[in-house]
Amino acid sequence: MEPEIKIYDNAAGVTKAFAKHMAQWIEESKNPLFHIALSGGNTPKLLFRYLADNYKNSIEWSKVHFWWGDERMVPPDDDESNYKMTNELLLSQIDIPEGNIHRIRGEEDPPTESVRYGDEIESLVPDKETWPAFDLIILGMGDDGHTASIFPNQMELLHSLDVCEVATHPSSGQKRITLTGKVLNSAKKTAFLVTGENKAKRLQEIFSGPNKGRLLPAFHIHPAGELFWFVDQAAAGKLEKE
Ligand code: 6PG
Repeated sequence: MEPEIKIYDNAAGVTKAFAKHMAQWIEESKNPLFHIALSGGNTPKLLFRYLADNYKNSIEWSKVHFWWGDERMVPPDDDESNYKMTNELLLSQIDIPEGNIHRIRGEEDPPTESVRYGDEIESLVPDKETWPAFDLIILGMGDDGHTASIFPNQMELLHSLDVCEVATHPSSGQKRITLTGKVLNSAKKTAFLVTGENKAKRLQEIFSGPNKGRLLPAFHIHPAGELFWFVDQAAAGKLEKE
């Protein structure tokens, strides 16, 4: 299916529009549970704050299960932890059962945790054919074209036959755990949230076709389900106008 690009004035506009879609998708879903994989980064920060302020009582949170598309291998109280950020801004602000929150244990040994988390996903997220199919995966894109924690120098993680892999941040060397390409490409709905001028060149490369795009991990996200790009004007600045 062709990706749908939605362009808004600024990051606040992206946040507001995406939150509205997310609430609607949760409400419309016929399944008793709705599995969402979250991302880290700055745009989700705005989203989590916005959801806590505006959707505290209007989303049926008990139906939602939260997972992470990637995590930095640090303890859950470390400022680098994606779980910590989400917990402070959203999870602690809403009424959601503890059992619905499936964090990656950043304090554990990375290879062991990667297997444990993959097993937890496989046991709870229903699969469509072979791979677990999240109802919604929220992704960001770095200005090097990485997504989740699949970086351009580790493209092989896109083709891994495991649900999760250990990744290494190319400049800091920080260990991370990330969902692999097969799982990222099996979601029912996938939404990239991308804001800021520093993303404009990569976005242009991704939408200009395989010649330039194929070296960027985000280019290879073509899920079985629907794919949306929620972007602001600054990030969309170099896309060709129709
Ligand atoms: C992380 C991510 C990562 C992020 C991008 C974009 O934990 O770092 O999940 O893939 O989404 O780096 O981040 P920004 O929204 O901050 O640009």
